[in-house]
Parts: sequence; C-alpha cells; structure tokens
Amino acid sequence: MAILSEKQGHLFTLHTAHATYQMQVGPLGWLLHNYDGAKIEGQDLSYLVRPQDRAYAPNPADAGGDRTLSPDTLPMEYSTFGLGDFRESCLDVRHADGSVGVDLRYKAHRIIPGKPALAGLPASYGTAGEVDTLEIDLADTAGTVLVTLSYAVFAEDDVIARSAKITNTSKTPVTLTRALSLCLDSQQPAARDVMTFYGRHMGEKQVARTPLRHGKIRVDSVRGASSPQQSPFVILCDAAATETVGECKAFSFVYSGSFLAQAELDQAEQLRLVMGIHPQNFSWQLAPGEAFQTPEVLCCFSECGFDALSNRLHRFQLAHLMRGEWRKKRCPVLVNNWEATYFDFDEAKLLKLAKEAKALGIEMLVLDDGWFGRRNDDTTSLGDWFVNREKLPEGIAGLGAALHGMGMQFGLWFEPEMISPDSDLMRPHPDWALRLPGRPLTTSRAQCVLDMSRPDVQDYLYDAIRAVVEDGQLDYIKWDMNRHIAESWSALLPPERQGELRHRYMLGLYALLERLLARFPHLLLESCASGGGRFDAGMLYYSPQIWGSDNTDAIDRLKIQYGNSFAFPIKSVGSHVSVCPNHQTGRVTPFATRAAVAMSGSFGYEMDLTTLTAEEKAEVRRQVEYFKAHHALFQLGSYHRLTNAQTDDRFTAWMSVAPDKRQAIVTVVQRYPLANGPIQSVRLRGLDPALTYCDAEGHAFTGSALMNAGLLLPPIAGEYGTVLFEFNALFELGAEN
Ligand code: GLA
Repeated sequence: MAILSEKQGHLFTLHTAHATYQMQVGPLGWLLHNYDGAKIEGQDLSYLVRPQDRAYAPNPADAGGDRTLSPDTLPMEYSTFGLGDFRESCLDVRHADGSVGVDLRYKAHRIIPGKPALAGLPASYGTAGEVDTLEIDLADTAGTVLVTLSYAVFAEDDVIARSAKITNTSKTPVTLTRALSLCLDSQQPAARDVMTFYGRHMGEKQVARTPLRHGKIRVDSVRGASSPQQSPFVILCDAAATETVGECKAFSFVYSGSFLAQAELDQAEQLRLVMGIHPQNFSWQLAPGEAFQTPEVLCCFSECGFDALSNRLHRFQLAHLMRGEWRKKRCPVLVNNWEATYFDFDEAKLLKLAKEAKALGIEMLVLDDGWFGRRNDDTTSLGDWFVNREKLPEGIAGLGAALHGMGMQFGLWFEPEMISPDSDLMRPHPDWALRLPGRPLTTSRAQCVLDMSRPDVQDYLYDAIRAVVEDGQLDYIKWDMNRHIAESWSALLPPERQGELRHRYMLGLYALLERLLARFPHLLLESCASGGGRFDAGMLYYSPQIWGSDNTDAIDRLKIQYGNSFAFPIKSVGSHVSVCPNHQTGRVTPFATRAAVAMSGSFGYEMDLTTLTAEEKAEVRRQVEYFKAHHALFQLGSYHRLTNAQTDDRFTAWMSVAPDKRQAIVTVVQRYPLANGPIQSVRLRGLDPALTYCDAEGHAFTGSALMNAGLLLPPIAGEYGTVLFEFNALFELGAEN
C-alpha cells in the first residue's frame, strides 16, 4: 500500500518506488513533517522532529507554558500567518472583524483509491490501481476554516501531487489573502542547492544552480502568466548532485498564471519550501460553506541524480498529466509559414508552400498570424476572428478544403486572450479589455488583454473559434499569448473581489480550453506565449505540444531544450528547422545540425521551402523520413543529457534510448572547433550493460563499454557540425531457441 495510516491516525507514511514521505500528528494536534527522501520502510521517523526552546518563539495558549512548542520552530506541514510562525506562510485568512490568523490542528483523514479531480483546474489523473490519495483535514482552533491537504501518491512514478482546499466553516465571510499549494519543511534538510529555470523572450529555460543560504531564495512571476523570466519549476538537491548521483526533488506547479516558489533557510538551518499562486494582489472571498481549491504541485523524487528525476517526470506527465491521443501518437510533421512569410502571404503563396511541403513528406501546413481582420502587421485586429478575404479569397473553408484535398492537414494560429485597441471587437466592448478605471490602457505589442474571467468573453471566444475550426476543418491550433497582464481590474467584479481577477482569468482560460477540447477531442493544440513564455505543467494538460522559443537558432536551442528537458517530455517541446542566416541571431548553422536539434522535440519546419535548392530539398526529404522512422525513440524513449549545454564550450551531446534498451541515438553538436585538440569521448547512459550494440559501420561495443569507457568522437569539421550515432543491440545467436 502506498499510503499507511498508523498509530490511530497519528502517523502517515507515503511510499513510492524509491521514496518515503512521512508526517505525524504532533503535540497540540499540529500536523508536522517528519521526513521526505530515500525510501525507509517500517520506521516511525517522528524522532527526527525535536521540539526545542528557541528563545522568544511564540507559544499558543494550550501549550501550557511549554516553550518548545512553537509554530515558528517546528516543521509545519502547512504554514499559516498570524499566530506565531514568522517564516513564509501558505495561508493568510482575514476574518470579518479584520483580524488575520488561523491555527490549524488535525481533525480527520481519508484514504481514497484513485484521485479526485480538482474542480476547474488542470491536474494529474490516474485510476485506482495507479494512484491513491490521502486527504487530511486540519481545522482552525477558532472554527473559522477547514484546510484539506491532498497527497496523491503515484507510487510507480515517484510522484506525489499535492494541493490544498480551504473551506469557510464559520458563519461569516472570510477573505484569503494568500493560499499557496505546498509547504515542505525540514529540520535537517539534505538539500543544499536549489535549481531554477530563468530566461527571457528568445532565451527561455536557462538553468541556475545556487547554494541555499540564510534568508529566502525566491523565483516568481506577477505577469499573469508563468513567464519566460522564471519558471514554476524548481529542484532541490544535494550539493554534490549530478546527472547520476545524489538525492534530488523536483517541484512543478500545475498552473499557468502568476506564481511564487521560495526556499527559505531559517535561524536553525531548517528549510521551508513553498509554492503556489503569487500572493501579490491576490485575495479570495469565501462565504460560509464556500471553498477555494489551490492548483497542485507535482513533487518528484530521485535518489540517483537529475537523469532519473527528469525521466521519471517525463514518463509521469505522458501517462498522468497530458491528455488525448496526441500525448503518445506522433504529431504531424508541420511547416509553419511565420518565418517563411511573416504577414506577407496570400492563398496562392500558402498553397505553393503546402504543395512543396507535401512533396517533401511534410504533413501539415500551419498558417500563423495575419489571416484575420485587417491584420497586416502586429498593431490591429486581435479579437476579430474572421478571415481576411483580400489574402484568402476562398476563406478559411476554401484554404482548408484545398489543403485537405492535397492530403495536407491544416493548422491555424489564434491569440484568443488578446484584443487590439484597433479592432471591431474593442469598439463595442471597451469593457472587455482589462484596464484600471479612469486611466488610459497600457499596451504591449500594441495590444490589450481580454478579461477572461467574464463568461460573455469566454462565450464569444468559444463561438468564434468553434466556427473557424468547423469552417476550415482544422486539425491543429497554435494558441498564442503575447503580452503579460499589467492592469488587474474587471468591470464585472465588485471592489472587494478585484483581488480574485487574476486567478479567475486562469479559471476562465482553462474552462474555455476544456470546452473546446470537449467539442473537438482530436484537435491538436500547441500552446505558445511569445515562444516558451507559458511553458508549464498547467498548459501541458491541455496542449501536448508547446512552442519552445521564438529563437529557432539551433545553437541557442541547445541551451533552451536542455533546460526544458529537466521538466518536460521531449515530445512536448515545439522545435522547428529554420533558415540561415538565422532570423534571430544571424548565425549560420549546417542544415543537418538544425534538423538534429529539432528532432529532439516536436519537429517541423519554419522556412520557405519553395526557395530551397534541389540538394536542400533532398536533404529535407531525408530528414523527414528519418524523423518519421525514429520518432518513437526521440520522443518517447528515455532522454539523457550527456553534457551540460549551459556551460559546454567544445560540444553538446545527448541521447535517446528505446524502452527495451535495444536501440539508441546519440547526437553530438560541435560548439567550437579546436585545432590539434584532444581526442574527445563521451560516456553514454541508459543502455543495458550486458548487451552488445552495433553502430552504423558495424563496430560492436558492449553497453558497459559505452557507458563506462565512453564513445570516441570523430573529429567534427567546422563550426556547429553534428554527428548522429545510431546503435542497435545485436540479437544473440540462438536467442530464439
Ligand atoms: C509570437 C509567436 C510566434 C509567432 C508570432 C506571430 O511571437 O511566438 O511564433 O506566432 O507571435 O505574431
């Protein structure tokens, strides 16, 4: 059993394949954190929690003068503000009389086979055989709120999904001014380092690793989107942790809006990690009986380094977070017209591109920005989701019919959450844009944000998008979001509820996505936010593909995709081959390298294929064929970072291994050629040490040799050259007998 409740419900132990997580109902009924780390069976670990008198720590009245009992020094399972815990709070409750504070004590618990859904939110899922859920109710001593902590244990995957629900159990309204999802306290933390994933537009998911220090290390976003600047994904690890060694824990927030993640080392070297919706400008009113559900955090554990951690997360998300047929099925190889034409296209140009693409084995044309309203640049028409007949005289229906007629699938770009001040939508609906009353609108990329909390806005978008999907028989939508939310005010909400807007926005967005996917279950969604600006586990629930970055430079992509691989399945990373010199960096990179990098992602093209030479076209045809033949290995195999793409100066290498370990592909990209340099090798991972593998030239190596002694790299000519090594396991003679 993954969940054990012992000692008359005073000790809760959660076991996964490699980890143990334990809590106790401690003195005064506080729920205290005993341990989380490598698996320990048959042990009450309450001895690890030592109440100690730390001078001047607040004690509740019922401590009876026992100065060791303080919420400021004990490892609290869910921290609150107002009654003596001075570390970061998960829950701030303002009562009708203006006072702030709750003191939570154990009340009840339940063990549920399976996992209840989280109303209105993306969340992991599983059947009764795959997951068990422990719910623990904590009640405020003054009877104001009940907090239900939820721990869904996916034992096989080493994942525990945590969330909290806060119910108003009093007779008067209360206001939550913060409601985070996770608190993880430890009196003797094993973790000494924290890894965060920061970046910028065109430089997402860079990796930062820093030692914990006294005080707070915080990453966050108040942009109304998870953002390219910081990701809602952090790792705590041993100071010595590497790809293959050391304990590490990943925390991934299943949410796409503003967030806070913070690691705090206190006066007594105790660690508190918190994660949840950003409390800035957040408040939520609860009438008696009403409840607030926080989004969940996926907590994943590895006792043996980052490689296992990310492979566990990849596997878990493919099976228990992403939905629909596309999470495992090969998505169509696409050509997107953005870098090929930008806004300058018409039907004839698109059909020419599609015809060429079809001849090269590409399966879908994605028509990007500019097909609607009067949109010939990025200054107008967002919200006017009707076709521009000057560019597409036969409409979306005509283009769709022509594409489907030639055997191509059809994808279309939308930016549903936005509205241009210069649009037919804005003129009759100025109050649909988020704004502060009495102030002019701020714009970003000349656009404003729709108030997604409004049911009429959601309905408008549902009807508009549904009509276009039906009209063009769309196979795919690129769902873009190209500005952040500055003004948080909704014309529909009363003043005391304006703090709810940002979360209501997210609930509105999720409801719209849910509604569209229920209506069009086969539609493939690719989420995008100026590239990878909303690449998070929340969006992954709806969209199995997420555009990794507007930066399509293969060499910059090495770093971006390296960062992404810690958190997200390889298959989910939108990745395209584009022209050289690259439009973002001006860099010239061999065609083979651009394809090799894009293949460790969703794979597609973003270039004018009609202008390629005959040799280049032949190369594209070969690349597409190669990808189709090997997609399962690239996208669903285990993934191993063989070098650190952030710091590599000579070359970057990674590999994919089939689930049965009989096939592997190693990709090596040269970063910097060195005259008369050393002989280079790289040690492989994920193979079966006992199997013998053959490369394309017939050389045989044992898995053990490749993993322990390494693969010798040939000299790679020129800057940014690439080599792909394919290894196939030899069948032993007589194996069939
Ligand atoms: C964003 C996206 C791009 C492209 C443009 C269109 O920048 O990330 O891929 O769709 O918008 O305006």
